[in-house]
Amino acid sequence: MQLQFLGHACFLLTDGTCRVLTDPFLTGNPLAAISADQVAADFIFVTHGHSDHTGDAVAIARRTGATVCCTVDLADGLFGPAGVKVQVGNLGGRLPMPFGSAKFFQAIHGSGVPGCLSCGFIFEMDGRKIYHAGDTALMSDMALLAEENIDVALLPIGDVFTMGPEDALRAVKMIRPKLVVPMHYNTFPPIVQDAVAFASAVQEAGFQARVLRPGEILQF
Ligand code: NI
Ligand code: MN
Repeated sequence: MQLQFLGHACFLLTDGTCRVLTDPFLTGNPLAAISADQVAADFIFVTHGHSDHTGDAVAIARRTGATVCCTVDLADGLFGPAGVKVQVGNLGGRLPMPFGSAKFFQAIHGSGVPGCLSCGFIFEMDGRKIYHAGDTALMSDMALLAEENIDVALLPIGDVFTMGPEDALRAVKMIRPKLVVPMHYNTFPPIVQDAVAFASAVQEAGFQARVLRPGEILQF
C-alpha cells in the first residue's frame, strides 16, 4: 500500500483500489502538493471542524462523489447540511470499510463545531495499521495504542495548537509504532519546526522516522 503526504494533515492512502483522503486542507495551504480540483478520493476522513482540516472536503466530495467520514456531531454540524454523503461513527467505534476499517480514537483538542469532539483515526488497510492522530495534545491514552501494533503513526509536531516535537517524541515512546511520520508543521509561521531534528530524536530513541516532503509517497 502507499501513503502520500499532501501537506499539513492531509494524506492520501491507497491499497490500489480504495483511495482514502484525510483532512484535505489544500486551498489556501501554501505547502499543498495538489489542488482540490485534481485530488482523487473515495473516502474523506475529517478529524475535526477547524478549517485547516475540513478544508476542501465538501468541494472534493461534491466533485468526486466521495463519502465524508467523521463523527456524528461533525456530520450534523457541517457535512450533513452541506449535502454530501456521510458515514458516521464516534470515539472508540470502528467503521467497517471496503478497504478494511477505520477506528475513531480520541484526541485532546477543540473541535471547531459546538458539541463536537475532535478525533484521530486508526486505519486498517491492506493488513497495515496507520494512526492519524489529528490535532491533539500529548495524552496518556496514547499508551493504549501500543497494543494496536501501529505500522505508521502520523503525528503533529507543530506546537502552539498541537503537540510540539518534545511531546510528539513522548507520544512515540507510548505508541511504539514501526514508523513515525511528522505532520502539521511549517504550514504557517507559528508552527515552523525542524522535522529532520525531530526524526533524529525519534531514531535516537530507538524508533524509525521518515520526513515526507509534500507530494512524497511512502510505499510499505
Ligand atoms: Ni485544529
Ligand atoms: Mn490544525
